Amino acid sequence: MEKILEKYNQAGRDSLIPILQEVQDNDGFLAEESLVRIGKHLKLPVSKIYGVATFYNQFRFQPKGKYHVQVCRGTACHVLGSATVMQQLEKTLKIKNDETSRDGKFSLEVVACIGACGLAPVIAINGEFHAKVNSESIKEIIKSLK
Ligand code: FES
Repeated sequence: MEKILEKYNQAGRDSLIPILQEVQDNDGFLAEESLVRIGKHLKLPVSKIYGVATFYNQFRFQPKGKYHVQVCRGTACHVLGSATVMQQLEKTLKIKNDETSRDGKFSLEVVACIGACGLAPVIAINGEFHAKVNSESIKEIIKSLK
């Protein structure tokens, strides 16, 4: 964190987004103490920083789970049922988009096209693609990871 902020010495509020991006790249998410520290550095209230960060859906406020599940909502996946896939995942994992399960095992994230449209609808778990998924296969995949 300090190394990142050093790079933004004398920075103004226009550096907020790049700082948030770098901190998230480094930590995997934006912790509350990170927002406080950034606020001190930029002389901005934490409420302002939180407001900006929540506006952009690229930012996470919880660490990723051991298994990070990404659901593609690009056009091809959408047409072939990714909304149902997402609903099944939310039901099975008992978490919503951008949340992490209480035991830290699973996190869920909706993403734009991940470049595997021929496999639609597709999900990725820790970067590994699962092709042509449906409600039944989702249950099996998750069961195998529990
Ligand atoms: S739309 Fe899902 S991989 Fe392209």
